[in-house]
Amino acid sequence: MQKTILVTGGLGFIGSHTVVALQEAGYEVVIVDNLSNSFAFVLDGIRAITGILPRFYEGDCNDRDFMQQVFSKEKVEGVIHFAAYKAVGESVAHPLKYYHNNLVSLIVLLELMQQYGVANLVFSSSCTVYGQPEHLPVDESAPILPAQSPYGNTKQVCEEIIRDSVQAGMPVKALALRYFNPIGAHPSAHIGELPIGVPNNLVPYITQTAAGIRPELSIFGKDYNTPDGTCIRDFIHVMDLAEAHVKALDYLLRQDAPSLYDYVNIGTGKGHSVLEVVQTFEQVNGIKLPYKFAPRRPGDVEQIYAKADKAKQMLGWQARRSLDEALRDAWQWQKALKEKGILEKMQKAEANS
Ligand code: NAD
Ligand code: UD1
Repeated sequence: MQKTILVTGGLGFIGSHTVVALQEAGYEVVIVDNLSNSFAFVLDGIRAITGILPRFYEGDCNDRDFMQQVFSKEKVEGVIHFAAYKAVGESVAHPLKYYHNNLVSLIVLLELMQQYGVANLVFSSSCTVYGQPEHLPVDESAPILPAQSPYGNTKQVCEEIIRDSVQAGMPVKALALRYFNPIGAHPSAHIGELPIGVPNNLVPYITQTAAGIRPELSIFGKDYNTPDGTCIRDFIHVMDLAEAHVKALDYLLRQDAPSLYDYVNIGTGKGHSVLEVVQTFEQVNGIKLPYKFAPRRPGDVEQIYAKADKAKQMLGWQARRSLDEALRDAWQWQKALKEKGILEKMQKAEANS
């Protein structure tokens, strides 16, 4: 019997790739998404890859009545909770919007999981919980530093909410996955990242610059204490990240204990500098990228990359794809946006909303 997994935010960047990985692993997927940062046509991309159209409920995870309907209709055995706002800068300007969406949605979900006896939860956390770690690569025993932004704080508080609920005896088995920097797209170019407006993140900015949508890339800071002076991150292919969710769910379903809480780094274990990413993108795609050096971006940490041993030992997961592959797939996706008319679909969906 196929197990049904509820994926909140399942039409977003990481969610859509995870839906594909879940379907390929034999899970049945039900998606809840309010389309605040995604589009319903992503479902077509998922079906083009796996041949399976997941059941989709359009609505808000903060809406208890709506979520209750989903739980009462579906026999959910596990939840992967992606739905959240994620723009760091916007969270500084609009903290309540972030605290409301990211915290209330988790609380509603936990209450309903308890009510409906759903035991398994995978939560999207972030390496942002570590701030600038003292030791690199950073492992899970590193202290959680005061958050640099309301967004970062929502991830810390969400982890605490889950931990406290488990400590209080709630019958839930939960894993928080602390993602490093997801990039790339599905190699079919049927799904990928769909940033609305000017991208904040490095790789979508690079691909849009390569496509001529942005005149040039600004590299924020060249005087960091790193070999080439630019920041260092652990860039992970989004399909590797997607597969980590499947492994996390498999792990939870195997556990006999009625309740548990743990947290795991999901990264490659390798750090690459921003300049290296730019040069690798140019090399693997045969493109010259216009870029300039600009002042440091406030709030950026100098360098962070994962010690990913816990994920390997506990989940049997490790990243398999290279930076080259991720940057090739990111560029194929950027081209598909135009060739497959996805940009027009986005405009149409925005006009209709
Ligand atoms: P995304 O914005 O592409 O996906 C989030 C999805 O959730 C979107 O489809 C959006 O429409 C939906 N959503 C948001 N609020 C909702 C609500 N209240 N009800 C229903 N749907 C809602 O983001 P992503 O990059 O796929 O990130 C997924 C998760 O991973 C988020 O929790 C994010 O904070 C976390 N994360 C992302 C990164 C990253 O670099 N992308 C890094 C670390 C952690
Ligand atoms: C950021 C968030 C992180 C969040 C993630 C997903 C911060 C401090 N961290 O990660 O919490 O989970 O986004 O939304 O904001 N860069 C450029 N030029 C650009 C864009 C980025 O040089 O146009 C550089 C940045 O300065 C940084 C690196 O590229 O050094 C990666 O930036 P980005 O992709 O935004 O990710 P993070 O900042 O690591």
